[in-house]
Amino acid sequence: MAITRWGIIGPGSIAHNFADGLKGAPSGRLVAIASRDAARRATFGDAYGIDAAQRHDSYAALVADPAVDAVYVSTPHPWHAELALLALRSGKAVVVEKPAGLNAAEVVAVTEAAAQEGRFFMEAYMYRCHPQVARLLALLRGGAIGQVQHIRATFGFSAGRDPASRLYDHALAGGGILDVGGYPVSMVRLIAGVATGQGFDNPATVKGSGIIGPTGVDEVAYGLLGFASGLTAEIACAIARNMENAVVLQGSGGMITLPNPWVPGRNAGPSDSTIIIETPAGRRVEELRHPEHLFTFEAELASRNIAEGKTEADAPAMGHADSIGNAEVLDRWRAELGYVTVSETPATNRVLPGVMQPGLPQIPRVLVDGVTVSGKPMAMSKLVIGCDNRNDIGAGALVWDAWMEAGGNAFDTGFVYGGGLHEAVLGQQIPKSRVSEPAIGSWPENNTGDGKPTHVYPLRGADV
Ligand SMILES: NC(=O)c1ccc[n+]([C@@H]2O[C@H](COP(=O)([O-])OP(=O)(O)OC[C@H]3O[C@@H](n4cnc5c(N)ncnc54)[C@H](OP(=O)(O)O)[C@@H]3O)[C@@H](O)[C@H]2O)c1
Repeated sequence: MAITRWGIIGPGSIAHNFADGLKGAPSGRLVAIASRDAARRATFGDAYGIDAAQRHDSYAALVADPAVDAVYVSTPHPWHAELALLALRSGKAVVVEKPAGLNAAEVVAVTEAAAQEGRFFMEAYMYRCHPQVARLLALLRGGAIGQVQHIRATFGFSAGRDPASRLYDHALAGGGILDVGGYPVSMVRLIAGVATGQGFDNPATVKGSGIIGPTGVDEVAYGLLGFASGLTAEIACAIARNMENAVVLQGSGGMITLPNPWVPGRNAGPSDSTIIIETPAGRRVEELRHPEHLFTFEAELASRNIAEGKTEADAPAMGHADSIGNAEVLDRWRAELGYVTVSETPATNRVLPGVMQPGLPQIPRVLVDGVTVSGKPMAMSKLVIGCDNRNDIGAGALVWDAWMEAGGNAFDTGFVYGGGLHEAVLGQQIPKSRVSEPAIGSWPENNTGDGKPTHVYPLRGADV
């Protein structure tokens, strides 16, 4: 039997759970770790019997290690997409802790990189891999409570407000929605998929309200989701309020409750769970007995998929489109509260290296009358990229920086689409790009039909 050999980037708190889970996974084995901290390398390495040569002091060294097939990324959120890209572009399979990116744009970049590299990628919602979820879906498909009409799903806990902690620090993308809000959102989307016969469905409407605390992150968030199928859902999450932490489904023929949907047995087995089914015929309680460690289900599923050469997991585990859809809902939920992460804040936004596949040919350039740098002709890329729908720097930076990396230096901002918004967002990102060449923009607002822009303007260094 093929064994997937794992390396862990960021051997902090949750990495212990994954490493413990791997111990029970017949298809996987932990062989390497990477930490910048010598004490953590020693403690974690000793705890899991990692060879001294495979206790790496840099993340780059781990992804270059030929003895590693797959990388588990368990750093704080802002580095998930960046490190997933680093590992994927180094030819490794990746499981990344949730959220897979700070916004949907990052998740798109990572999942596309996985597809280009032909490598496995999965977002680590471990509850999706536990048999409780498969059983719930089987009950619903079997019509146990008729058609699901409404869901209530919550994940909230009260952590003392420590501004320096991962949960409360804006620079570490703290807050409830990004930390635990993805659980209720992904559960509701999964159940919504039963009605459509798909692995998941995405809501048509997302409404939200909540509390942004003094550190600038959402401490409490409530949301209402509406699906085209007619399904509605109430979701909630918090880092400053204890919640029910349950999932309740109301159907046309009864009700199902999961009293412990997210972490049945987090730190050690057993990972037993309970499903309560109430119908006019009576109340039935299913006790699911699982001696396994909760994280063994995720570790085994990923290890087996990787050994079999798959690029993504089947539902109910998180596939690529599922992760993108989840991130889109989190983006919309955050927008309802007005929570902007570090990656959407012009002052702190960082571009992601590795979005482009290495080794691609550069976009050719051509001289255009009137486009110069310091009076000398400036070659302009023969392709011009559109900028519409990039409404914030988080969404624009990834695409535009990758574009410049590929040799593009011309942007069609199409003023009519955003009324100046996209020009402003591009203007925020250009100075942050890793590419220092001159660039130009244009907006063909009158659609002259002769292929010539009606307005050309300098973005950086160019005269027009
Ligand atoms: N699935 C779950 O049940 C679950 C539960 C908890 C957390 N999580 C997720 O796991 C991730 C990590 O959470 P955690 O509680 O395990 O974090 P943690 O204990 O603070 O560990 C973070 C690790 O990330 C590394 N790191 C890299 N850059 C860092 C930076 N700038 N600041 C701080 N640490 C940095 C550290 O690595 P070095 O050793 O190199 O310093 C450390 O080992 C979060 O994204 C969270 O959403 C998932």
